[in-house]
Amino acid sequence: MTQLNTASARGKLPLREYLERMTLEEKIAQLIQLAVPFFEGASDDGQITGPMASLGIDGHTVRNAGSVLGLAGAQETINVQRMHLAHNRLGIPLLTMADIVHGFKTIFPVPLAIGCSWDLALAERSAEIAALEAAVSGIHVTFAPMVDLVRDPRWGRVMESTGEDPYLNALFARAFVRGFQGDDLAGNPDRVAACVKHFAAYGAAEAGRDYNTVDVSERQLREFYLPAYKAALDEGCEMVMTSFNTVDGIPATGNVPLMRRLLREEWGFDGVLISDWGAVKELIAHGVAADEREAALKAMKAGVDIEMMTSCYAKHLSGLIAAGEVDEALIDEAVLRILELKDKLGLFEKPYRAADPEREREVVFCDAHRAAALELARRSCVLLKNDGVLPLAAAQRIAVIGPFARSGDLLGPWSWTGSQDAVVRLSEAIRAKAAAPDAVTVADGCGIEAAPAEAQWAAAAAAAQSADVIVLALGEHSDMSGEAGCRSDIRLPQAQLELVRRIKALVPGKPVVAVLFNGRPLDLHGVIDEADAVLEAWFPGSEGGVAVADLLYGDANPSGRLTMSFPYSVGQVPVYYNAFNTGRPQGAPDAQVRYVSQYLDIPNEPLLPFGFGLSYAAFEYGEAALSADTMTPDAPLTVTVRVTNTGSVAGIETVQLYVRDVSGEVVRPVKELKAFRQLELQPGESAEVAFELNERQLRYYHSDLSHTSDAGAFVAMVGPNSRDVTPLPFALVK
Ligand code: BGC
Repeated sequence: MTQLNTASARGKLPLREYLERMTLEEKIAQLIQLAVPFFEGASDDGQITGPMASLGIDGHTVRNAGSVLGLAGAQETINVQRMHLAHNRLGIPLLTMADIVHGFKTIFPVPLAIGCSWDLALAERSAEIAALEAAVSGIHVTFAPMVDLVRDPRWGRVMESTGEDPYLNALFARAFVRGFQGDDLAGNPDRVAACVKHFAAYGAAEAGRDYNTVDVSERQLREFYLPAYKAALDEGCEMVMTSFNTVDGIPATGNVPLMRRLLREEWGFDGVLISDWGAVKELIAHGVAADEREAALKAMKAGVDIEMMTSCYAKHLSGLIAAGEVDEALIDEAVLRILELKDKLGLFEKPYRAADPEREREVVFCDAHRAAALELARRSCVLLKNDGVLPLAAAQRIAVIGPFARSGDLLGPWSWTGSQDAVVRLSEAIRAKAAAPDAVTVADGCGIEAAPAEAQWAAAAAAAQSADVIVLALGEHSDMSGEAGCRSDIRLPQAQLELVRRIKALVPGKPVVAVLFNGRPLDLHGVIDEADAVLEAWFPGSEGGVAVADLLYGDANPSGRLTMSFPYSVGQVPVYYNAFNTGRPQGAPDAQVRYVSQYLDIPNEPLLPFGFGLSYAAFEYGEAALSADTMTPDAPLTVTVRVTNTGSVAGIETVQLYVRDVSGEVVRPVKELKAFRQLELQPGESAEVAFELNERQLRYYHSDLSHTSDAGAFVAMVGPNSRDVTPLPFALVK
């Protein structure tokens, strides 16, 4: 590959010199990103006349486009790059970008599941592996991490986020960026550039409907939504993607205050800003541009460097410059940023970078990567209930029933490069654990949304009757979450709830374990009340079937903790742990019966809180203590607690520290996660956790947007989840 790279590079000019030599058309072409079918050399042979005609741009522009979306495969990217360099007058290499979200061919659990591991090192490793597999397959930039804070499980894209907490999301954002990029993109072609998305606040879509309006105050934006994007950039993330939604009434892709003032000026981001798919043209549908010309004008003014998948720039930028509405200096700036990224990736010297069919065969989906995916899958599943039925014993006769019993649909909606064929099915993995494999019977019972057919039910009933324990493999089809995968009813589909009811009626008292494969927190009624144990497996990835079987049989101990609350029902949504108390909180000593902030028909509390998860070990918390009852800016406090594993197996506990500012200038959440620590404890072992808590951790955005702390009363809280905490009052003295 080195030879191929050297032979093809023509020698690099200083970047500004490229700018000077480029025609306006060549510059504009750099700002265009199209998908694979438009590219000559790609396996479908270009199809340049078909789709291109719909874009209304000429072959010359397409051939000189600065980047391509969705191209993968070492040989294919080599072919396309070679073709591109042959056409490109100045020998400027093509940049390849793709969504490598939670794995390339080795698919890791979906990001929401990775969040539930609370393990930043494993998250980083997953991104590093994804980067390596992508890089040897010819990809230079991944459209990840997605760090949108999420509170509404109706929104299908919650599975792409690590959850509802700004602090945790920021840590994961950093971990993913480190994993994707490493610390030397040019020197290490096995990493890829990261593109944090979707800037900004895409996760706050009203009513959980994708692409819908977002309207949050600037304080909310800064406090909850922005920290994770900022953290990614602080970690050196090379690119940013605009979001589809409005922010304060202006679509992000044409939003000058957001992009120019905040992102570029305040944060100093000088990397590439790319629109989301078609988002420049969508400025028209939003109602801030009359036509494609105005859409191009607004996006360019906002500082969007690359237009993804529409052709407003290609068709209108030169006219806008000729008319004096766009200064060519803006185009130069954008082109320079793109050239700089190509340069950082080392593409001028090595246009094929790490693309290498031989290494691709060696490393993609190799055993070491699969082992890492297995480890993370084990750590991402969350045990939600266990009335003593788990772990299973090898001697038990097991019936695996449900639409996910032998389904390969465990990869999730963002795994376009993964293969379901390579996924070990849950039923197979269970069979491999059983002492007598033929004592494991398997039946679908029903479809994901199709009610039990007669024969299906008969097989399920027979399996249930002959077993000691029933494992129900239930969930959502991967199309039921992800982009445009929103639901208003977040229960399991009726067909599966009916299957659960029928099984319970058929064999009352027989232990039932539900394993859930899905992309969002669900309303679990009809499952959690019926089953004796519930394991939330999310979409656990390539090794998910094996990981779940390991957990069911106790060969691994569940340690995942929820990073998004599970609502009692959809009527509570959005429900999240870091909410405000209101002036009439439920349960206050002087609360009236009626005039309090509550529902008449359901509790205020979510069914399962943020931070929650069970283990086969038993963790006992000793008395938590503060080192002093006052803190000053120079004298931090220490919060200590001793945790003991009183169970009979080793396990991992996630000790969590929360804080409440009791009397802020602005109302503060009832709890905010400030720190956590994971402990691996052997049976009988105990460890003391000591968290330092300092004044900086108490700062927040005030009404004048200053980021400071308030002197006065606070409460620190320690515990195993956001609900079961011990309060420790203290004061900040300034
Ligand atoms: C999604 C982005 C993605 C892009 C490119 C869009 O529809 O919103 O998350 O990166 O497509 O595939």
